[in-house]
Amino acid sequence: MVLFNLIIIIIFLSTVSLISSQSPKSYFINCGSNNDTNFSWETFTGDDNPTNFRVSGGHKAVNNNPASNKADIYQTARVFTTKSWYELEADVNNTFVMVRLHFSPFFHNGIELSNSVFNVSVSGFPMLTSFSVQNSSDVLIKELIIPSPVRAMFRIVFTPFSRSSPAFVNAIEAIATQHDLFVDATSPHISPVGSIGDINYVALSYAYNPIYRINVGGPKVDVNRDDLRRTWVPDDPFIVNSEVAKSVEGDVNYVDGHATKYDAPDDVYKTAKVQLANSSTNVTWDFEVNKNAMFLVRAHFCDINSSGLNDTNDAFSLFIYSYFKNDVKPGDTVKGLQIPFYIDFVVDSVETAFVNVSIGTASQPAFLNGLEIMELVTNSGVVDDVVSDGKSIKKWYIVLGSVVGGVVFVLLIGFFIGFMYRKKKSEGGTKTESNNVLADILQATNGFDESLVIGKGGFGKVYRGTFPDGRKVAVKRGEKGRGQGRPEFVTEIMILSKIRHQHLVTLIGYCDEKSEMILVYEYMEKGTLQDHLYNTSKDDQKLSWNKRLEICISATRGLHYLHTGSDAGIIHRDVKSTNILLNENYIAKVADFGISLLDNMEESEMAIKGSFGYLDPEYISCMKLTQKSDVYSFGVVMLEVLCARPALDTTLPQKEANLADWAIKQIKDGMVEKIIDPYLVDEINPNSLRKYLETVEKCLKNTGDERPSMIDVLWDLEYALKLQQMVVDIEPHDDSTMNTSLHLRMSVMDRLPSKFNDDDSRVNDSVVSNYPSESQVFSQLKLDEAR
Ligand SMILES: *[C@@H]1O[C@H](CO)[C@@H](O)[C@H](O)[C@H]1NC(C)=O
Ligand SMILES: *[C@@H]1O[C@H](CO)[C@@H](O)[C@H](O)[C@H]1NC(C)=O
Ligand SMILES: *[C@@H]1O[C@H](CO)[C@@H](O)[C@H](O)[C@H]1NC(C)=O
Ligand SMILES: *[C@@H]1O[C@H](CO)[C@@H](O)[C@H](O)[C@H]1NC(C)=O
Ligand SMILES: *[C@@H]1O[C@H](CO)[C@@H](O)[C@H](O)[C@H]1NC(C)=O
Ligand SMILES: *[C@@H]1O[C@H](CO)[C@@H](O)[C@H](O)[C@H]1NC(C)=O
Ligand SMILES: *[C@@H]1O[C@H](CO)[C@@H](O)[C@H](O)[C@H]1NC(C)=O
Ligand SMILES: *[C@@H]1O[C@H](CO)[C@@H](O)[C@H](O)[C@H]1NC(C)=O
Ligand SMILES: *[C@@H]1O[C@H](CO)[C@@H](O)[C@H](O)[C@H]1NC(C)=O
Ligand SMILES: *[C@@H]1O[C@H](CO)[C@@H](O)[C@H](O)[C@H]1NC(C)=O
Repeated sequence: MVLFNLIIIIIFLSTVSLISSQSPKSYFINCGSNNDTNFSWETFTGDDNPTNFRVSGGHKAVNNNPASNKADIYQTARVFTTKSWYELEADVNNTFVMVRLHFSPFFHNGIELSNSVFNVSVSGFPMLTSFSVQNSSDVLIKELIIPSPVRAMFRIVFTPFSRSSPAFVNAIEAIATQHDLFVDATSPHISPVGSIGDINYVALSYAYNPIYRINVGGPKVDVNRDDLRRTWVPDDPFIVNSEVAKSVEGDVNYVDGHATKYDAPDDVYKTAKVQLANSSTNVTWDFEVNKNAMFLVRAHFCDINSSGLNDTNDAFSLFIYSYFKNDVKPGDTVKGLQIPFYIDFVVDSVETAFVNVSIGTASQPAFLNGLEIMELVTNSGVVDDVVSDGKSIKKWYIVLGSVVGGVVFVLLIGFFIGFMYRKKKSEGGTKTESNNVLADILQATNGFDESLVIGKGGFGKVYRGTFPDGRKVAVKRGEKGRGQGRPEFVTEIMILSKIRHQHLVTLIGYCDEKSEMILVYEYMEKGTLQDHLYNTSKDDQKLSWNKRLEICISATRGLHYLHTGSDAGIIHRDVKSTNILLNENYIAKVADFGISLLDNMEESEMAIKGSFGYLDPEYISCMKLTQKSDVYSFGVVMLEVLCARPALDTTLPQKEANLADWAIKQIKDGMVEKIIDPYLVDEINPNSLRKYLETVEKCLKNTGDERPSMIDVLWDLEYALKLQQMVVDIEPHDDSTMNTSLHLRMSVMDRLPSKFNDDDSRVNDSVVSNYPSESQVFSQLKLDEAR
């Protein structure tokens, strides 16, 4: 049994290049050069002969007329005339990667690089679109912060518009950070006309394009003063009414549980603009931004020189677009003098090409220390499919290798539990009450009481929990020291925060605190589908064929939504009977997205993941992973449902051990009755069975192209259900007819359509009218689907 639950990893050893398993956290690349160059307090390594990353093509270009005022790294570039990429190692331990590209164009091979137009994407996120540097005298640095890729490698892809308009880059920085830069699960969502509610899970679904980083009341902060090499500029060009504010400076005291130097360096927090004591006018800053875009606006505060707002309820106001007001409480018990904190807002620019931020209205002067405005970037869904250049990277990657336990990566990613914990942003909080979250979970599970364990999987134990309001939840707790925990934890949150569907299990919240990784789900009363097929306890009622079909239909709907419902399309990758859960009404929901993949992600990781007995043969042999791999696994589940035996049973003779192989052979040989769950024998209708088996066979085809899509499976199953129900309607008492089904061989079943019609002609008119033809049922189903 242990075997079935194992996530298997097949490691492909590369013949070409082995990248050291100790992955660097950061890359500094001197593009188009074979020299290492020191620049801005880092050593940029030449990309001519890289050891820890790959570059797919392009050629080196040297500026023959170097401007004396420019650093060495800007005298060379890598130039791409066709779509090409840099491939860097992602670090599973980290949460975000900051990618910076440096551009300093020059004249090369008859082409003025400053006129080039090209696109750049990072891990599927568009970074630069129709980008052109234009001004050759400037160095332009562009940045994008992406959520840490779940795959082993990620690519920075350059797409030139034409050969005469090649893409180029002079230097690349990629800084992985363990720090959760964007921790808030729930933030106010604001438009130019005011609040439009809260927004959840901004952090993991988007990439961030920093438009402004402002050190309010202070000087420019250079890269060497910021651990993440960010640059912060003074606020003077943006302040609307500088006459009502003054700059102040003081001391900063970083403490656990509040903002850290990774949120903003002390150079930013130690200076501020303070409203003049004799002025009640609001202090306003105005920022030009793109229209119709969404932004994360982060306001940084630190009461460096006692504002006098030191009581818990003392507050001043922060306005965004005038119509949205948020109370800032520097004296809130969790903060205090000189302790930095920040507040996040998600702002839609709509038709407004600016964002304005104001502070004011309080008994004591309001203040602001820093401000960041980042445009949120959604994954393009564009496949970074690079035609193999014969040296495409193959590396080994031990998915189970990372040990998470004991390392405190983050104090808190954030938490979102609608009913038990609602982040009170309007009260000026930042990373508040992190300990309460864990406390609530501890209380709900009686301190992770072993008697409440309802399951155990690769990730850790699952507990039944009850919140004070009586609501039941399932609490999945990452086991300390289990390697695969973190990436799967992040993937699960990422997937479930992107999509919601009645047939996908709902994530109520999560907690990433100290060394705890905890996921909280809706409680599924009846457990797994498998529990009701074979590992059933004696007093448990076996499921009827109708019920089984309904469960399959629900699960199919969930998978269909997974495949098509989000922009990118998602591959579940671990469809099996233990990942289909049943609620109190036996409604099925698909669970466990820990190894799921966005369909558009680059195929560069050489690890096969999934469960024995369910793995798509095409995936195993060709590394071809598609949504049709899920269809194959679902075909195996359908067999489990019909035969009530495990997908892989090593206690059986070898030729029977693998359910898919064994059942397909039995079906082909017309020996279906040998494999059907005996419990179903008296119940199953031959036509329903025929349709079902036909569908199974299609799902289990050797190549993905031959397999149906999930929506086709859905139609077939609905049809099989109709066929089952119709017979019950027509001849509810005629047991003999139904019994025949069990003794059918395939040869008989092949003749079924005519038998079906014969029966049809014999029944009376009223029944005929209730008895639609296959095509009628089919079109009806299509109509239902279209609604
Ligand atoms: C690399 O360094 C060598 C000597 O250190 C120098 O001669 C050469 O011009 C440099 N190449 C580039 C592309 O900067
Ligand atoms: C870069 O700086 C390091 C020390 O900071 C020094 O050891 C190294 O020689 C420098 N490299 C170059 C190419 O100047
Ligand atoms: C190009 O850069 C120079 C120097 O930084 C600046 O003075 C000029 O305004 C820029 N031109 C454009 C079109 O941006
Ligand atoms: C660049 O990106 C834009 C926006 O995604 C797209 O419409 C365009 O086709 C891309 N250009 C190339 C050459 O890929
Ligand atoms: C700090 O605050 C005190 C009064 O609270 C004020 O007198 C002093 O000028 C402030 N310091 C600065 C640098 O503004
Ligand atoms: C407010 O005080 C500042 C000095 O702190 C002074 O320059 C300004 O004239 C005063 N404004 C009014 C309206 O009193
Ligand atoms: C709160 O601020 C007021 C005004 O600056 C000051 O007089 C008082 O001592 C402060 N109280 C505390 C507890 O710091
Ligand atoms: C801020 O933006 C709002 C909404 O567009 C506008 O009505 C208001 O005048 C702006 N305020 C300032 C001070 O620019
Ligand atoms: C500050 O701005 C808000 C929002 O625009 C406004 O309602 C309030 O009256 C302003 N306060 C002052 C003193 O101007
Ligand atoms: C992740 O962190 C663990 C524990 O610090 C370490 O052993 C492992 O090598 C790291 N993995 C990567 C890919 O850096």
